[in-house]
Amino acid sequence: MIKVETLNFSYTDGTQALFDINCEFPSEHIFAVMGDSGSGKTTLLNCIARFLMPQTGKITIDDQDTSGMAEIDLRNKVGVVFQRLHLFPHLNILQNMMLAPTLVQNRPVKELRKEASEMLERLGIPELAESYPSQVSGGQAQRAAIARGLMLKPSYMLLDEPTSALDARTSEEFALWLKELREDTSFIAVTHDLLFARAAARHGMYMEQGKIASQGVIEDVTAAHC
Ligand SMILES: Nc1ncnc2c1ncn2[C@@H]1O[C@H](COP(=O)(O)OP(=O)(O)OP(=O)(O)O)[C@@H](O)[C@H]1O
Ligand SMILES: [Mg+2]
Repeated sequence: MIKVETLNFSYTDGTQALFDINCEFPSEHIFAVMGDSGSGKTTLLNCIARFLMPQTGKITIDDQDTSGMAEIDLRNKVGVVFQRLHLFPHLNILQNMMLAPTLVQNRPVKELRKEASEMLERLGIPELAESYPSQVSGGQAQRAAIARGLMLKPSYMLLDEPTSALDARTSEEFALWLKELREDTSFIAVTHDLLFARAAARHGMYMEQGKIASQGVIEDVTAAHC
């Protein structure tokens, strides 16, 4: 479980983006973080991933305080897929997937190639292996970015607007696809897409102006805000 306690975060220009945030993200779940533009969703993800350091409060991952964790332990535990995916355009999908484990874990290329191929097979997208990011659709790129993140076998994965480039049908398919992965990896998905949130997540929260306006079962949270 990821636990956030009395978190306050202000940017260097003085803008306070998060006010006394308390929430829990359980394992083996997909949790949806919803809310208006500017309500602090991305800031919260960045604090959990420790790309931003909150001024006060505490974040624990499986009972470990993230502020004291070694960088490599944190990155092995929490993966992040940003809205713009950041697939490397000059590498095919298989090469994209092998890059971080090669650099971070220093593992042999042959072994990683086998593992990456098996991962694409397991995720139902083996045909993407040799494609370059510019040759695949938005939905395929989204899956490829997650496949790449899963190569480091994180317990948790943070997704910022995973369906923003997808149409309604693809985003629903993507929700079902994600649900099949949640036993091994728990997902926290920031999303504006309420259909996706309902299809993918059992629990969620809604943020307003840096605070949590409501949290709980997804149907209740979405019903209260639409
Ligand atoms: N680098 C920054 N410097 C100063 N203020 C920032 C910075 N990044 C974000 N903010 C402010 O912090 C608040 C929260 O922003 P954040 O990006 O977390 O919102 P969001 O909920 O992710 O919005 P969106 O749905 O548009 O992505 C906003 O008021 C925003 O203007
Ligand atoms: Mg955002």
